[in-house]
Amino acid sequence: MNEIRVFSPATVANLSCGFDILGACLDKVGDELVVRKTKKKGIVITKITGQELSKDITVNVAGVSALALLRETEVDCGFEIEIHKGVKPGSGIGSSAASSAGSVFAINQLLGKPYSNKELIKFAMEGEKAACGSLIADNVAAALLGGFTFVKDGLNHDYFKLCTPPELFFTVIHPQIEIKTSDSRAILVKEVSLEKMTEQSANIGAFIAGLYTDNYELIARSMVDSVIEPLRSTLIPKFNDIKEISLSNGALACGISGSGPSIFALSKGFSTANDIALAMKKVYSKTDLEYDIHISPINDEGIKIIKVK
Ligand code: HSE
Repeated sequence: MNEIRVFSPATVANLSCGFDILGACLDKVGDELVVRKTKKKGIVITKITGQELSKDITVNVAGVSALALLRETEVDCGFEIEIHKGVKPGSGIGSSAASSAGSVFAINQLLGKPYSNKELIKFAMEGEKAACGSLIADNVAAALLGGFTFVKDGLNHDYFKLCTPPELFFTVIHPQIEIKTSDSRAILVKEVSLEKMTEQSANIGAFIAGLYTDNYELIARSMVDSVIEPLRSTLIPKFNDIKEISLSNGALACGISGSGPSIFALSKGFSTANDIALAMKKVYSKTDLEYDIHISPINDEGIKIIKVK
């Protein structure tokens, strides 16, 4: 195999109750990367479509994560990377994660899979660090493992995949404003009360119990965030209206996707997810805000191979 094209999906991090530790993998919306082996050693980004981004491999997250992989791996070839961006940077649905995870996944395949997808997470995290200054694993873990994922301890590479109930769909609306993850992290308070700590821990535990028992009602009442959402939602136009209309149209839960500005609603069944999309659109169509909207089942596979040569 000398060339591979992969689909590297968008992801929803935090899922309201699990700041920096929970993630879920979307389908259909994502980046595509083409990676080919070259005789000449090293990494070159040859083409980027969809967004204006740097081709400098020490700046572009796909290059940064690939370099991290190659630092630990003996190889007798180099790699050319093409990035076709389907996820907009600063959208809150894991744009940097899609590119950083996609490049290491593709290179690993071309090398005959010396690493498991779980082992690739630490390399992809280096791309996240380059993008936002923090070694966050939630989006890259979801992209590489698929389904719902949990980060027990990102710095010590302890993360795993959770169970995915069959009928869940995401509706994600992305108002066309950009919020940098670093800015969205900078406004957070550094300390929480004991009471909030207890509430949030209870919600995470109950959410995971809900996933493992297909208990949609428990999932719904666990996806609550009284720590991060009140602060970040002030950056997102019409957040409260979108949330209210999503819940009144049958969403199990609605919250900020990652660091925003995208807003996600989780629901049972495509038809509810579609009703929610229509309702969300009504809110933004009363403003002059442009937006993208995605309806997606949970992608239990994660990054997908499209073609090999
Ligand atoms: N967990 C991270 C945050 C995700 O909320 O800042 C960044 O996309």
